[in-house]
Amino acid sequence: MKPLMQPKTFFIHTIGCQMNVADSEQMAAALAPLGYSASPAFESADLVIVNTCSVRAKAEQKAFSILGRLADLKRSRPDVIVGVAGCVAQQEGNRILSRAPYVDIVVGTQALHRLPEHVRRVAVERCRIVDVEMGPGAPDFRPHRAPGPVCRFITIMRGCDNFCAYCVVPYVRGRETSRAQAQILHEVRDAVDSGAREVTLLGQNVNSYGQKEGHGTFPELLARVNSVPGLLRIRFTTSHPKDLTTELMECFVRLEKLCPHIHLPVQAGSNRILARMNRGYTREHYLDKVSKLRDTCPGIAITSDLIVGFPGESEADFEQTLELIQKVRFDGLFAFMYSDRPNAPARRFADKVPEALSRRRLHALLALQDEITFTRNSALVGSIQEVLVEESGRTKASGPPQWVGRTPANKIVHLQADPDAGGFGAGSLVQVLIEKAMAHSLRGVIKGKPAAGRPLKGGAQDAA
Ligand code: SAH
Ligand code: SF4
Ligand code: F3S
Repeated sequence: MKPLMQPKTFFIHTIGCQMNVADSEQMAAALAPLGYSASPAFESADLVIVNTCSVRAKAEQKAFSILGRLADLKRSRPDVIVGVAGCVAQQEGNRILSRAPYVDIVVGTQALHRLPEHVRRVAVERCRIVDVEMGPGAPDFRPHRAPGPVCRFITIMRGCDNFCAYCVVPYVRGRETSRAQAQILHEVRDAVDSGAREVTLLGQNVNSYGQKEGHGTFPELLARVNSVPGLLRIRFTTSHPKDLTTELMECFVRLEKLCPHIHLPVQAGSNRILARMNRGYTREHYLDKVSKLRDTCPGIAITSDLIVGFPGESEADFEQTLELIQKVRFDGLFAFMYSDRPNAPARRFADKVPEALSRRRLHALLALQDEITFTRNSALVGSIQEVLVEESGRTKASGPPQWVGRTPANKIVHLQADPDAGGFGAGSLVQVLIEKAMAHSLRGVIKGKPAAGRPLKGGAQDAA
């Protein structure tokens, strides 16, 4: 597409899940041919996009609160173009313009590839555009020309067909569709060429990858990604417990780049609530999958999502959730208070749990899990872990970079360099002695030379 006359800058504010992070990267790449480059702050950008999430009421409120701040910006600089993308854009469409009349572009989850067209038109005609058509989706590969981060998210499928009773995703992302393996592999290779060493393959339910389209199975895709040269690590999310197969479990042993960590959202520990949620498995099925996973791949890290205060959740139901947590002893847990969502059937369910009670349950659950996480983290003190280094920014603009990385099991490690460790940098794979466990992360010191990875800082930097 022909660039605009003047070089311009954009800023994308991303709320929500990794899928939105991946979409924001795609939007950024799509804006480059128009002459737009990234701005470090929204105040100075010519184009500001809020990529929104609708999974809970709070996330939606956050989007509107950011938009509120953009109203001031638009008053002081009327030429700024304001766009709203993502799940709230899809859900609200035209209604966004009545709540935030200064918005220029509303672009839904399946129309992102048309963003450059819309920006161009708005820049010339100063019109307003709402494009929330649910169509065949984006022709979705764009090369990442600029060097990018060490860890990338790669969308392998979009939408969801599961219709869990609480969830807005099927309504804002549409039906499940998988991308072809060739496209995904092309994107993985391109990510590696531009500096990636780890990819996380994304889908709402990766286990059903390719089944509708006949694109092959998820384990087949993993095996092909595993053979991409230069790639060091593979992760994926999310795996639905009802569809987790033995074949996928075996990939953790068979494929050397696949990290031994699975995010397996359980949502509730009581069969009554699981049935009301339409999750398609029982507590017993879930526990059985967990023990099979651990038998197949001893030491695999298991994390999960849980909802407290789902309509009808009694104290006895909640006790069963606590009991399940104690049984599994997750490596980490994301817990949420139930929130009514547009279109999701649970909003019409009776027996809503009062907010104060949900909050109490949330705190009890998190206190239990914090204890488990800390005990699990403490057990790693004194061990040597292989860490893929990511730069986490600088505390002061002129100060030394702060390094952070993750173990294969996805534990975050704050790094200090031992003087003997030699040079290292983002993308290095290093051996780290774990010295301290904290509530949600570890601290360690780099020992010995890096095993592999990108060229070291100070050495010749390649295209990375
Ligand atoms: N596809 C993923 C989850 C996507 S949403 C899966 O099936 O696991 C991420 C998490 O948000 C969910 O796992 C759930 O725990 C939480 N969530 C979704 N809808 C919610 C709602 N209405 N209220 C509270 N939490 C919700
Ligand atoms: Fe939502 Fe359920 Fe689909 Fe996950 S599987 S996105 S929770 S409907
Ligand atoms: Fe993700 Fe939120 Fe949409 S969790 S799929 S950005 S509703």
